[in-house]
Amino acid sequence: QKPYQITALPGDYIGPEIMAAGLRVLRAVTADQNFDYTVTEYPFGGAGIDAAGDPLPKETLAAAKASDAVLLAAIGGPKWDGAARTPETGLLEIRKALNLFANIRPTAISPVMQRYSPIKNEDPVDFVIVRELTSGIYFGTPRERTADYALDTMRYTASEIERVARVAFEMANRRHQHVTLVDKANVLATSKFWREVVGRVATQYPAVTLDYSYVDAAAMKIIANPAQFDVILTENLFGDILSDEAAQITGSLGTIPSMSSGANGPALYEPIHGSAPDIAGQGIANPFSMIKSVAMMLTNSFDRRDLAATINAAVDQSIATHIVTPDLGGSATTEEVTNAVIQSIQESRVSYEPNHV
Ligand code: NAD
Ligand code: IPM
Ligand code: MN
Repeated sequence: QKPYQITALPGDYIGPEIMAAGLRVLRAVTADQNFDYTVTEYPFGGAGIDAAGDPLPKETLAAAKASDAVLLAAIGGPKWDGAARTPETGLLEIRKALNLFANIRPTAISPVMQRYSPIKNEDPVDFVIVRELTSGIYFGTPRERTADYALDTMRYTASEIERVARVAFEMANRRHQHVTLVDKANVLATSKFWREVVGRVATQYPAVTLDYSYVDAAAMKIIANPAQFDVILTENLFGDILSDEAAQITGSLGTIPSMSSGANGPALYEPIHGSAPDIAGQGIANPFSMIKSVAMMLTNSFDRRDLAATINAAVDQSIATHIVTPDLGGSATTEEVTNAVIQSIQESRVSYEPNHV
């Protein structure tokens, strides 16, 4: 077996700080675990503009395409706000180029996490947002801007809806057999179309219950009773907004990882949050989102659920002992949290050692 190739895109502001944390954890959890890999870092986002004059340099895209998985930290920020091609443009382009149409954003509040949640949860919260990622108003044309008006277009084809809906139903089959389609079907033509197409896909998954929620009400329900959700399926922009809201009920945006995948080719793993320019350079960014993105990669791209479980248990251990960054009310630095996670990984290895005879 040839070593797995992982392309790492540290990006901007806190991006490199949390990428370093994620890669240290990857190294620790894979040590002596029969997992050979190489990680190569490439400039992307603002760093791409600075290094190569483009947010998605050719070499970066070629490396991403040729690798087994892509790890991205975060891009963007005030330094490049006026750029002709912004860091965010690069992000949309790499998603499109790798055909990453399904973005999986899990929100789970583990028992040790509950004390950080700003809401009361009588029942366990564990749901997943399946966000369409390569179409909708983010990509629709025409897109125009004159002195008098601006225009964005929300457009979806049946096949774009079908393929992401299938991802949601497959996931629900493995979870609690419940899909909620979030839309604005009381107003938007695209949403009415989503209901039709998703309704057809649902007939192929008789074990799964499909229900619907308008997006405004869904935003309320995520606060009022998040335990009611299993899989939320939604279009690109609604998924962007609801996933930041969902993240905050764990206590911080800095805890949530994501996977973006398509039919073939490498998947991309990244925190759902951005480059947090307001806290960059202080060494206090929460690394959990990046560390858990590494765990998602190990499970989904490399079939190493065992290593992912070790990471997630170590994160929970760090939370249980309140070794957390200021966004979760702690006083630990990114490095201290990462050290705690690594130490816990190493201790769990020692306890797995069989007794000598
Ligand atoms: P943001 O997600 O970067 O930050 C929002 C708030 O959450 C800030 O107060 C920040 O300090 C905090 N936060 C985020 N991640 C954190 C972490 N790991 N630890 C502790 N606190 C954390 O959103 P923003 O400020 O609106 O955007 C900043 C830049 O990031 C923009 O250029 C935006 O376009 C970009 N962005 C990039 C991505 C990405 O790379 N995928 C995602 C979202 C936003
Ligand atoms: C995200 C981000 C991006 C998005 C931006 C930076 C283009 O907010 O990954 O959630 O809107 O998809
Ligand atoms: Mn977002």
